[in-house]
Amino acid sequence: MTTPDCSQNFLPLASQIAIVTGAGRGIGAAVSHRLAALGATVVLTSRTAGQLEELAEAIRAAGGKAEAHALDLRSEESITALMQALKERHGRVDILVNNAGIGSLGHPLHEMDPGAWNDLMATNLRGPYLMIRAFAPMMIAARRGHILNIASLAGHNPLKNGAAYAASKWGLNGLTYSVAEELRDYGVRVSAIAPGSVNTSFGHTEDGSWKIQPEDIAAAVELIVTQADSSFISEIKVRPLQKKKS
Ligand SMILES: NC(=O)c1ccc[n+]([C@@H]2O[C@H](COP(=O)([O-])OP(=O)(O)OC[C@H]3O[C@@H](n4cnc5c(N)ncnc54)[C@H](OP(=O)(O)O)[C@@H]3O)[C@@H](O)[C@H]2O)c1
Repeated sequence: MTTPDCSQNFLPLASQIAIVTGAGRGIGAAVSHRLAALGATVVLTSRTAGQLEELAEAIRAAGGKAEAHALDLRSEESITALMQALKERHGRVDILVNNAGIGSLGHPLHEMDPGAWNDLMATNLRGPYLMIRAFAPMMIAARRGHILNIASLAGHNPLKNGAAYAASKWGLNGLTYSVAEELRDYGVRVSAIAPGSVNTSFGHTEDGSWKIQPEDIAAAVELIVTQADSSFISEIKVRPLQKKKS
């Protein structure tokens, strides 16, 4: 087998197209702002079009480039439509941040409704698979690309009363490490970011000032997408500096 030519890997971020799922709020919004500040054209996706339009306006007002595309990760048709639209408009995608996710926390697994299980897995695990299926071929053709999956420390540890969520993130880690092996020979780098508790509205109502801030995750994304071409970062674990205040 011949070694694929990855010498075209370097491309200024100002020429790159980045997709962020779950961009409308929380971690996804911070990551989108950061990628736009680095110069990328950011494709903002989630189900709530209004949040995406607002964010796109804010990014443009700050001098960045952003487009809003409503997308439901549970729908293969929705993802195919996005892929076709971006292929026609830009002809390529350089960065895919699989960030969107939902939780189902606060009850033991045996009390979980099967519909809620399906919804969670469709969003947290099947969604990233469908996005990779749709967008990896463009990256392979270009012999470059970054795929970043926002997993969780819950993908490394047991999570009492959050078994399905933990299972989805353990699964996402396995998917990430395996796809990284499938794509590295094509110059496509696949990474996971595993945050602890982040100060977003994700299942939390209490004071989140002690937690990781969404911008901290955006900084980890920046580190990964600006990595020199000769290597890639498999995973970044991010923890709050302080332990939870009681
Ligand atoms: N916050 C934490 O403590 C924490 C810790 C570790 C890992 N994480 C992970 O970080 C990621 C982002 O979390 P966050 O805290 O920023 O959550 P968030 O504020 O609740 O945002 C989640 C985003 O995902 C989108 N989304 C949900 N279901 C979707 C679907 N079916 N199709 C498309 N988009 C969908 C939501 O938009 P719509 O509802 O409008 O679709 C929203 O934009 C998740 O994967 C989460 O598991 C979070």
